[in-house]
Amino acid sequence: MGKNILITGGVGFIGSHVVRLMVTKYPGYQIFNLDALTYAGNLENLKDIEKQANYHFIKANILEADALKDIFEKHAITDVIHLAAESHVDRSIVSPLDFVYTNVIGTVNLLNTAKEYWRGDLSYEKAHDGSWEKNRNHLFYHVSTDEVYGSLGKEGLFKETTAYDPNSPYSASKAASDHFVRAYGETYHLPYVVSNCSNNYGPNHFPEKLIPLFIHNIINKKALPVYGDGLYTRDWLYVIDHARAIDLIFHEGKNGDTYNIGGFNEWTNIDLVKLMCAQMDVKLGRAVGESEALITYVKDRPGHDRRYAIDATKLNKELGWSPSVTFEQGLAATIDWYLNNGPWLENVTSGAYQQYYNSMYDNR
Ligand code: NAD
Ligand code: TYD
Repeated sequence: MGKNILITGGVGFIGSHVVRLMVTKYPGYQIFNLDALTYAGNLENLKDIEKQANYHFIKANILEADALKDIFEKHAITDVIHLAAESHVDRSIVSPLDFVYTNVIGTVNLLNTAKEYWRGDLSYEKAHDGSWEKNRNHLFYHVSTDEVYGSLGKEGLFKETTAYDPNSPYSASKAASDHFVRAYGETYHLPYVVSNCSNNYGPNHFPEKLIPLFIHNIINKKALPVYGDGLYTRDWLYVIDHARAIDLIFHEGKNGDTYNIGGFNEWTNIDLVKLMCAQMDVKLGRAVGESEALITYVKDRPGHDRRYAIDATKLNKELGWSPSVTFEQGLAATIDWYLNNGPWLENVTSGAYQQYYNSMYDNR
């Protein structure tokens, strides 16, 4: 069946991979990519598909309710995959309100627009399992993060049933938006799914997060600022595997349900950084240990979550998803992408980026 899908944040890191997958895999769908083009949005990320007949870019901000209403009406939007967000924890510590505006108010604007526009189609009858399967001619898919669950100790994994316990302004804003999505499901019977994914890495990642920042710094022989003792743990997933999971959940996920996405791939930051340094020394023809010498321990991030680890058993058992690449393969492919896309990296690290970077690191 044809669908007119609104994907928000589609020229950002993860969004660009989701849009490319949906445009190329489903020529019968019309894909409307809505993005405000903030510092993190980059049209270059989708240069290869921008001329496809079923691809349409719309520059708009999810804070503009009138613009959203016009877009739904003009393009008869049937489904939403919502990724637009402020996404960087360090920025959320400096400017928490930006995160409240886009992540909370922007998400509620979008929910409200969908609820109003689809109102005539929404059934109020619940299926026997308590979901609203009849409403599956529409779907609001909220792409969220495992950071809403807070921080783990040495043991255990985040499950879909883990209580929310966000610690950073970023994770608090994502937790709030997840709650609003559920509330719109319960109150207005808006059909929805939420997925909570672990840390992503891969091509098109803006060089402020750990992996792309350190690739950029290694290339340029700049210091690698490791926060605190470097023993913080993250669970890393290749972005294309996240996009595959979103496609699967969008089509087969149960209305009103939540899915955790992750590859059972935990690394302490320092081990990960050392692996990156070793791989890059080989690729750049540098002496063994040259990049590792750039590691600099710096002041810790306030409220730094110690450990994230996702239990993705439900997604695997119910929908049959598993990652397609190992971490070593994904990391090597990512490093190669940055080495082969020098102009992309130079473009996003010129101008305002330098000011941002200096202001963040001068503080430490
Ligand atoms: P990103 O920062 O790379 O991209 C965000 C995109 O949203 C950009 O293109 C930006 O221009 C757009 N945007 C920001 N504010 C907007 C607004 N007000 N209106 C319209 N567009 C706006 O983010 P990402 O890393 O690709 O993350 C995408 C989504 O996935 C986010 O919701 C994030 O919370 C979630 N997520 C990210 C990760 C991760 O590791 N990066 C993991 C799990 C979940
Ligand atoms: P990041 O990529 O910002 O993702 P998140 O905070 O959302 O998990 O950071 C990943 C880990 O790397 C986190 O423990 C913080 C740490 N980190 C550093 O040690 N140095 C850095 O310069 C950055 C950006 C992150």
